[in-house]
Amino acid sequence: MKFQNTLLDFPAAGVARVMVNRPTKLNALNSDTIAELHAVFVTLKADNSVRVVLLTGAGDKAFVAGADISEFSTFSSEEGMLLARQGQTLLFDFIENFPKPVIAAINGFALGGGLELAMACHLRCASAHAKMGLPEVSLGLIPGYGGTQRLPQLVGKGRALELILTGGMIAAETALNSGLVNAVVAPEDLLSHCLELAQKISRNSPQALGTAIQAVLANYSDGRDGFEAEIQNFGACFGTADFQEGTQAFLQKRKPKF
Ligand code: COA
Repeated sequence: MKFQNTLLDFPAAGVARVMVNRPTKLNALNSDTIAELHAVFVTLKADNSVRVVLLTGAGDKAFVAGADISEFSTFSSEEGMLLARQGQTLLFDFIENFPKPVIAAINGFALGGGLELAMACHLRCASAHAKMGLPEVSLGLIPGYGGTQRLPQLVGKGRALELILTGGMIAAETALNSGLVNAVVAPEDLLSHCLELAQKISRNSPQALGTAIQAVLANYSDGRDGFEAEIQNFGACFGTADFQEGTQAFLQKRKPKF
């Protein structure tokens, strides 16, 4: 499949890098880009050689500067609802539920849908010059790609409401102090930092990584008891080849081969 707005490469063994590639529009997410990203993630899900995915933006100015405002400026309420629903299903929820860890490498502005995309990822590393915010209220909107839910989960209700209601931007260091990102590094170190993290993660059991993601997410799903989900997922691990290999390797004082 030929993609217009998305690049895919493999910067290290087991690591795929997906790049949103509309630098002249600060990588704003239009519907074609969302569909492409979905297709790329579907491919990566099926590719057993891929253990961890990095998601980033092309250029050094923006990760993603939001949903493409030019695309929805004339939408009706129904069209707006469809935009949010399709985007959440195809991309944001899809990434959050992805069975392999996805790390957002935030290389610049992460605004609106861009910050929501980073928040759908499992981990976030930001370049020191990155700026983050949810400016939707300045457009007469609210975040529609999960921002009103995932931001409070990450930073708490008070800080989330401050960012959402002011529509302002925060610097990477502030994001780090609020738990919005896991690390802040110099722009030139962003890729190497993310690769180091990805490689550390990819030494672990892929099966256990996917199950751990599911168990953590259970706490955030309506009507699900996270502790019960953890018990179920924990038990399921015992029936896997990775569990056999991991425990046998420990007992035999060798490194596991997953
Ligand atoms: N949707 C569509 N186009 C966007 C965009 C978005 N979310 N964000 C940036 N762009 C486009 C600009 O329209 C401009 O295109 P043009 O050169 O064809 O006019 C190009 O990207 C560069 O952006 P520009 O605004 O000129 O860069 P800047 O350095 O002056 O400002 C920002 C950078 C990020 C502060 C500014 O682009 C911005 O506020 N973007 C919108 C952020 C937003 O509200 N996102 C939430 C959307 S729901």
